[in-house]
Amino acid sequence: MRLLIAGASGLVGGNCLDFFSKQSNIEVIGTHYSFPTNNTVFFDTLNLDNPDNFDVWKFRPTHILHAGALTHVDLCEQEPEQSYKQTVQSTLNILQIANSLQAKVIYISTDYVFDGQAGPYDEMAETNPLSIYAKHKWEAEELIRKESKHSLILRITNVYGDEIRDKNFVNRLFNACLQKESLKLKLPIDQFATPVNAHDLAQALWVLLREGKQGIYHIAGTDYLNRVQLAEKIFSYFPEHKIEVVACTTIELNQAAPRPLQGGLKSKKFLTEFPFFRFTSVDQYLVKKLK
Ligand SMILES: NC(=O)c1ccc[n+]([C@@H]2O[C@H](COP(=O)([O-])OP(=O)(O)OC[C@H]3O[C@@H](n4cnc5c(N)ncnc54)[C@H](OP(=O)(O)O)[C@@H]3O)[C@@H](O)[C@H]2O)c1
Repeated sequence: MRLLIAGASGLVGGNCLDFFSKQSNIEVIGTHYSFPTNNTVFFDTLNLDNPDNFDVWKFRPTHILHAGALTHVDLCEQEPEQSYKQTVQSTLNILQIANSLQAKVIYISTDYVFDGQAGPYDEMAETNPLSIYAKHKWEAEELIRKESKHSLILRITNVYGDEIRDKNFVNRLFNACLQKESLKLKLPIDQFATPVNAHDLAQALWVLLREGKQGIYHIAGTDYLNRVQLAEKIFSYFPEHKIEVVACTTIELNQAAPRPLQGGLKSKKFLTEFPFFRFTSVDQYLVKKLK
């Protein structure tokens, strides 16, 4: 297998690059766009003719994982054209490469394709994206479904884990506690999700690829938490450190993009097909990190 990971300077792509690089019988290349890392190469999914692009035609991937998107949900609401380009147009371009090389596409999507009235959701649930980010992710999913036979779509939410920029919610709060930064946080008590460890996600993808699976899979960790509960879980490991959490509603937060409130995903389909797979909890991750 030759795997190309677009967006490997990010949280999900970076964990996949790290995980797949350690497996045998896989050649893997990860790409960055604006944030070069030690083990990624430049590739602009928006300009396939950029002379600085890594030569994908020479590498001839058999599989392409598209983990690149504009992931700042509120920015997408304010800059819909940029959101369209980085999420939908980039997917169209990835499809163009994949189809001409007959490579299998793996697309990373989100629980934001649902409206958050009745989560956590299984793969059969009806979608109803609320925000620009969510609509563009759904549009990209649709393109993948229509234009790419045998493709795999993984929906995920609230990803956390080791990453170069340590910008995910769990690691940001964890590091702030370690460094004894004083914090006062205003967090929504009504946004629920199923946080998933990026390493587990990479491992789950590997299992799916080995078995030649296609279609949609929901990949979720074992917790179902709102943002306040998630933050308090982290703070519970630092009892001496004083942190102020102000719980509020999403309406009070006045975020630019609407959020699905009762979100989250069920990995029942995945776990039924792979009953021996174990997703870790946030607690397990934090305990390991503290050692
Ligand atoms: N994190 C979550 O909680 C979460 C939840 C649901 C779904 N997802 C989905 O999972 C995927 C990965 O998310 P993430 O959290 O890993 O995001 P991330 O850390 O923000 O990384 C996004 C990646 O996309 C790359 N990228 C952006 N525009 C690009 C372009 N035009 N060409 C090539 N690469 C481009 C970025 O490259 P540079 O940084 O080098 O510019 C970066 O590597 C996204 O599709 C996101 O929608 C994430």
